Amino acid sequence: MTALAQPFLRRAALCAVLPCMLIACGKQDSGAASTAASSTTATSPAKIYVVGTDAAYAPFESQNEKGEIVGFDIDVVKAAAAKAGLEVKFVNTPWEGIFNALKQGDRDLLVSSITITDERKQSMDFSDPYFDAHQLIAVKADSKIARFEDLKSLKVGVQNGTTGDETITRLQGKNSQDIKRFESTPLALKELETGGIDAVVADNGVVVNYVKNNASNKFKTVNDPAFAPEHYGIAVKKGNAELLAKLNQGLAAIKADGTYDRIYATYLGTPEVAPSAPAPAASK
Ligand code: ARG
Repeated sequence: MTALAQPFLRRAALCAVLPCMLIACGKQDSGAASTAASSTTATSPAKIYVVGTDAAYAPFESQNEKGEIVGFDIDVVKAAAAKAGLEVKFVNTPWEGIFNALKQGDRDLLVSSITITDERKQSMDFSDPYFDAHQLIAVKADSKIARFEDLKSLKVGVQNGTTGDETITRLQGKNSQDIKRFESTPLALKELETGGIDAVVADNGVVVNYVKNNASNKFKTVNDPAFAPEHYGIAVKKGNAELLAKLNQGLAAIKADGTYDRIYATYLGTPEVAPSAPAPAASK
């Protein structure tokens, strides 16, 4: 009889304890939030907006030796948020689940060199564009590849679910066995290094940065006028107009007062070598 009653009792005890634990957790959370916000307001605890980012995309977002998330995107969001009076914290979020994390409310916003596309606009809202980009090919320095078309039947690495993936899928077809999809762009580039693939297609800024910082690999970049212009936006949950308006206000403010340009110079250098500079042919 006592043995029979025990599981029930245990469950009953758990039920009695759980709500308290939940309350305790809730208290702790808001406690942390109000401590962080105490420097600005003493009245209502400020919300800390959780920013998801796939921090494997230098120089836009990456982790430094200390494990801190740093980069162009990070500084842009920090600066824009400060102008709009928003408190933010960044959480490394693998690209694979990043849009779902936003949808589920685990992240309030995303900054991750995210290209604004019509398809993505169906399931999330984007800030005003804050950066121009396009695809770029990375190959070994002695490669004969000269244009995008040359990749038609070669092994090409991309980060799964990116616009680079979409671009090569359009060229090779969705059933192609030659498209190698990686969890991250650095993994694709590593595979190029070891010779497992012939090329990597990814955002220009990241490819340029990698080739520049890994000179010993002897890679080169190949551009193609066929690559469509892309624009990065900060993503928020569909319908979160209030947050979107604040982010846009912050972005406009940092563009107007020179903060954006300073961040740009820090991570992307001078316009001649900057990845987002327009094709040189147009200006000469
Ligand atoms: N711009 C590309 C896209 O939106 C690639 C972005 C990948 N970003 C990253 N942090 N891994 O699909």
